[in-house]
Amino acid sequence: MSITVDKSHHTIGAVVYDVSLSKVPKDIVLGQIEDALEEHGVLVFPKQHAVTPEQQIAFSLALGPLDVTDVDYAFLPDHPEIFVVGNTGEQPVTFSPADENGELEWHTDHIHLAVPARASLLLAKAVPPIGGDTLFACMYSAYDTLPPDQQILCDSLEVVNDVSGLLSYLDDQGLDTETRNNERDSPVTWPLVRAHPRTGRKALYFGNQVSVGIVGWTDGEAKSFISQLTEHACAPTFQYRHKWQVGDAVLWDNRRVLHAGTPYDLAGAPREMHRTTIRETEKIRRVG
Ligand code: SIN
Repeated sequence: MSITVDKSHHTIGAVVYDVSLSKVPKDIVLGQIEDALEEHGVLVFPKQHAVTPEQQIAFSLALGPLDVTDVDYAFLPDHPEIFVVGNTGEQPVTFSPADENGELEWHTDHIHLAVPARASLLLAKAVPPIGGDTLFACMYSAYDTLPPDQQILCDSLEVVNDVSGLLSYLDDQGLDTETRNNERDSPVTWPLVRAHPRTGRKALYFGNQVSVGIVGWTDGEAKSFISQLTEHACAPTFQYRHKWQVGDAVLWDNRRVLHAGTPYDLAGAPREMHRTTIRETEKIRRVG
């Protein structure tokens, strides 16, 4: 069997039509999914309404070991592998600005942890009528289009990533972050440009809130550099915007894609997204 992959007109993103997440993929299908993920960075699997938490976990496990969230109120009861993003729980779990004027939180999952995420799978259980889209940006294109002197500079930089950057962003949205204190691990440092373990291609690897420093630079210099880099790297030309339908599942490659939630009314219609997070199993290394 060959899966049908419909490439979008964007730099990244494709739709996979004939795969159901309710079954653990056989090796041959898994190989095709991995190839498509490598080629397109973001894969949309529509019409997955009937997929149960157990099935989502089993499908995701075929891609690698899963992370378990330590944010107590953010996982599905009895399924710690499923991180629930949205406004249907005890308190909102969101990574988006409060309104359209707010700054987006571009990130790659778990970059602030010693074992970051290799890929993530988000399944839409409920979506609001307005807002709550997810943006994805291609970090191969972002790197490839930097001027040569900037590429050389980026190649040399080590970035410090710390959850404090995310928590202060969430504080600014008026969200309660006290209960997320158990997320406070030590900062981790990764190269700003990482080599993708499958393709060897260079991808920028950072988050505009969570990347709080650059080794050897002052905080002010780092902040201003990360902000300018974000403007380039996450420009609309490198983006795919996913407008969710209930039942959509989206799988993305955290090694070469940044993503950002967009605002929606947290007090309004439900948004419930189930995320499984596949752990990185390869060393994060720079090229050369
Ligand atoms: C996430 O950052 O994992 C979720 C993005 C979203 O809520 O759209």
